[in-house]
Amino acid sequence: MISTSYQAIGEICLIKQKDKKVAQAILDQYKRFKSVYYQGKISGQLRTPNVTWLAGERNTLAKVRENHCDFIVDISKVMFSKGNQAEKRRIVSQIKGSEEVLDMFAGIGYFTIPISKLTDASVTAIELNNDSVDLLKHNIKLNKVEGQVNVIEGDSKVETLKLGKKFDRILMGYFTSHKRSNASKLQSDLCSFPGTYEFLPVALKAAKKGAIIHFHELAADSEEIISKITSIASDLKVLNARKVKKYGAQTHHWVIDIQV
Ligand SMILES: C[S@@+](CC[C@H](N)C(=O)[O-])C[C@H]1O[C@@H](n2cnc3c(N)ncnc32)[C@H](O)[C@@H]1O
Repeated sequence: MISTSYQAIGEICLIKQKDKKVAQAILDQYKRFKSVYYQGKISGQLRTPNVTWLAGERNTLAKVRENHCDFIVDISKVMFSKGNQAEKRRIVSQIKGSEEVLDMFAGIGYFTIPISKLTDASVTAIELNNDSVDLLKHNIKLNKVEGQVNVIEGDSKVETLKLGKKFDRILMGYFTSHKRSNASKLQSDLCSFPGTYEFLPVALKAAKKGAIIHFHELAADSEEIISKITSIASDLKVLNARKVKKYGAQTHHWVIDIQV
């Protein structure tokens, strides 16, 4: 029995201990893994991973199948959060007809791919990290949803306004360790809270009347997030607050559904 927690990303096993003996023991015991990597802290605005090879094949590309969708992930370049599966299913189940959806932090397509594959919605997917954009484009082809997704590389705060378009649903799947980014400093007059809050004024400009925004943030409880959201825009209706996952001792990753 191996007493360490691990995360499986396709045939790659990620562990939090930098221990080659443990890594080899995992490979010996679990034949479904081809390699084991140490996973350090995910850092910065672009959520960049920090991995070190420990045992098995030196291959950081993994194929993951989730919610009937396929993803290619490069574990050395982008994060892949498997803890959000129920949230992805929940969003897919809420979509009605041919909605126009804006994914402001698309990553490699965590939400964009299942929405475009499993519903009739069309998705505008904005992503800042060039490595994620490459994988997102690859995943769009892999899932054959080229006709439904428009990929835009850049800062969603800037690109959303350039679109000059309004959406039925906006995904704000982002949060930070609460340091203000450089790009965000330029816009600091828009909002006094760092993190996803900084992007809310822009999202509101791109929302149709009655649109739903799925707003992600970290907090001990949802009221903390809701009070900040309503201080930015008081005329929003909070529909639902849901814990996505635990994130540290006192903190949870929350998603707040708001109607414009
Ligand atoms: C938490 S990840 C996305 C995860 C995914 N939505 C989920 O919840 O599983 C956040 C993504 O936002 C991207 N990002 C950060 N700042 C951005 C910005 N200003 N504009 C667009 N994308 C940004 C990062 O590169 C990263 O891929």
